[in-house]
Amino acid sequence: MSNELKSFLEGLDSLAQDCESRKGQACSLKALEELRIEFLGRKGRLAGLMGCLGKLENCDKPAGGKKANEVKQRITELLDGWESELSVAESSQALSKFDPSMPGRRPWAGSLHPVTLVMEDICNVLGGLGFEHVSGPEVENDWHNFEALNIPPEHPARDMQDTLYVSDNIVLRTHTSGMQIRSMLKQQPPVAVIAPGKVYRRDSDLTHTPMFHQIEGLLVDHHVSMADLRGTLTVFVRKIFGARTEVRFRPSFFPFTEPSAEVDISCVMCGGKGEADGHTCRVCKGTGWVEILGCGMVDPNVFKSVGYDPELYTGFAFGLGIERVAMLKYGIGDLRMFFENDVRFLEQFA
Ligand code: DAH
Repeated sequence: MSNELKSFLEGLDSLAQDCESRKGQACSLKALEELRIEFLGRKGRLAGLMGCLGKLENCDKPAGGKKANEVKQRITELLDGWESELSVAESSQALSKFDPSMPGRRPWAGSLHPVTLVMEDICNVLGGLGFEHVSGPEVENDWHNFEALNIPPEHPARDMQDTLYVSDNIVLRTHTSGMQIRSMLKQQPPVAVIAPGKVYRRDSDLTHTPMFHQIEGLLVDHHVSMADLRGTLTVFVRKIFGARTEVRFRPSFFPFTEPSAEVDISCVMCGGKGEADGHTCRVCKGTGWVEILGCGMVDPNVFKSVGYDPELYTGFAFGLGIERVAMLKYGIGDLRMFFENDVRFLEQFA
């Protein structure tokens, strides 16, 4: 054996021995990676020795190459073995830090929005009284929203609502009353419908938002009277606000009803006394009453616009704001809270 080959082989042996002796250094996956680079990297120690292989005599090259492969394999095995030992150790260390008795993370449960809750409540009560649930478009034409409801162009009643116009003839509905028209056009009396939904107005302050929710109610048949209206609404508010709730009708005006009334209920806060804990009640401002909805007997002009004979039929209608009911029912002072989507507020209704 030539001297060159001998010293080449010895160099390889001592490289393998050196690697074996470095086991203690492989104490982390990162340190192990450094060892791998030192021994097997492209510019590492094995690669350095391999540079000498080319300088051996041709007859020595096969023996030199064979040994080099063996050493490379040996070192690779060593490093791989240490690596698997290390990863077992590291994961059992991680496991030992894991405390299976710790309470888990509770998933967040959603809840229905208070407006939805009150809407469902109202629909259930009125549904139980025989009213059918209908819905219609939020983008409405002038005729359904105004004209057919006895609110002709230039009528001063249009000033009551600041309208969001989509075009000259198309509006975002300012109330659900247009659903009275749509329902009557679809069928002949008897009609008993409720139409809940979103309505839009150009209003934005403490007590007004550009979008809010209403429910419209309509009953048309032979001989429907104001007494039927009063009876229906009394049952309704007592179901929603409690059996002891008092109801009061105040004369009012709406173009689509005649006569028209606004309905007050005894204050939900002070029970109608006008004061609570010796202070003037902040909800009813001491009057003992809070306004809850508008209503009236369907105006004959409205019947004419849908082709009903006002000599044959009478009817009542009512409309109420859902947010207003929700504020009274839950004692919420600021309308905007419904639309801020603050989870701390919303989760109280779960
Ligand atoms: N549409 C009215 C409003 O938005 C509420 C209303 C009043 C509806 C009287 C009615 C009614 O059906 O009879 O203010």
